[in-house]
Amino acid sequence: MKYRSIKGTKDILPSETASWLQVETVIRTVMNDFGYREIRTPIFEQTSLFARSIGELTDIVSKEMYTFIDRSDESLTLRPEGTASTLRAYIQNNLGEQSPLTKVYYLGPMFRQERPQAGRLRQFHQFGAEALGSSSPQLDVETMLLPLEIYKHLGIAECSLKVNSVGCEKCRPRYKELLSNELLKIKEKLSPESQARIKQNPLRVLDSKNEGDQKLAAHLPLMKDHLCEECRQHFSQVQKLLQKVGIKHTIDGRLVRGLDYYTKTAFEIASSHLGSQDALAGGGRYDLLVAELGGKPTPGVGFAAGLERLIMVLDKLGKAKYEHSGPVLFIAALDERSREWAFAQCSELRARGISAELDYLDRSVKAQLREANRLNAKFVVVIGENELQSGSAKLKNMSTGEELAISIDRFSAAF
Ligand code: HAM
Repeated sequence: MKYRSIKGTKDILPSETASWLQVETVIRTVMNDFGYREIRTPIFEQTSLFARSIGELTDIVSKEMYTFIDRSDESLTLRPEGTASTLRAYIQNNLGEQSPLTKVYYLGPMFRQERPQAGRLRQFHQFGAEALGSSSPQLDVETMLLPLEIYKHLGIAECSLKVNSVGCEKCRPRYKELLSNELLKIKEKLSPESQARIKQNPLRVLDSKNEGDQKLAAHLPLMKDHLCEECRQHFSQVQKLLQKVGIKHTIDGRLVRGLDYYTKTAFEIASSHLGSQDALAGGGRYDLLVAELGGKPTPGVGFAAGLERLIMVLDKLGKAKYEHSGPVLFIAALDERSREWAFAQCSELRARGISAELDYLDRSVKAQLREANRLNAKFVVVIGENELQSGSAKLKNMSTGEELAISIDRFSAAF
């Protein structure tokens, strides 16, 4: 029987990991520049943590979570996103008491049982950041700048940023009612999916993928025009700050995120180099969530971004051509005694932190040299009976072709 990876999961092969490592290094560097520290939370949590925070009626919770009952009869779920776990860790470890503002980032696999397609996986990777403890609109803008800066560092200049305000517990219920009433008037014309949403989640009708719904949605009232004074001011500050830092953006009153915890700001960053799954990143403010999960009322804002989608864009732009660096030295050995000698020398060099490689397949010298080339070795030395007896070998610099005599007795000290 042949085993295959699970549908919607992907092996990241050695030929691809150099690009992943490079991208991860840029992410960590920029996160550090912005003052965010890494947090690593478990891959699985209590199911209710996600249901409570993301929202029972969202697609993620109602049909996409990998949920299982463990041997202690507890319902556990593989994390579909990082915000809920980060907040759980923040509350559990009293991070808020250690400093009034906590800025953390994460990077790792997330799990959603979605229909797999280009850019949509069941195990995918996100990097994201959360800032907890301040309601300043500066942090809303900072969490938009963070992914944009990471993209810029990697050579992606063109992304589109859409921003909206989804209101708060004061203004949203009134608007929801208004929207539901408007939707009821056109109910018959809406798709069955949108009809089902009128009662429980009318905002999702606004971002329906159905063309007919989209035409009808163009005439519906928008949250951004029905904000309370506090939300209106916050939204106008966010826009002002975006202008001040020169970030191109559009206000999209129909932008509704697929997670229920947002208050005030919501945003999405998309790339035209992706297909129908064009969202590179998404985020927003969630001022009620910490309290909702049992912590002290604490405002928060953050974003998360897909790594596979980012690498897809880099590939399209021809900017993901990173390669693993080759060994400093490749020792080609001609016989058994030389192979033993080569193994001992490689071990000594590696112990000193110098990358060295040799042949393990008893290949001909020609094949060994081809391998050294393929690995991109900086130096190559051929060792046989002659070299071991004479005490001297020739070290070849593979980029210049220059050859240099090297002593067998003091071999590893030469590097
Ligand atoms: P999200 O919009 O669900 O937000 O996901 C963020 C990003 O993760 C998406 O824009 C996309 O790039 C990537 N992504 C999501 N699902 C998949 C998938 N099935 N396959 C590949 N990539 C995917 C969140 O997760 C929120 N926690 C963001 C946040 C953080 N809001 C505040 N703080």
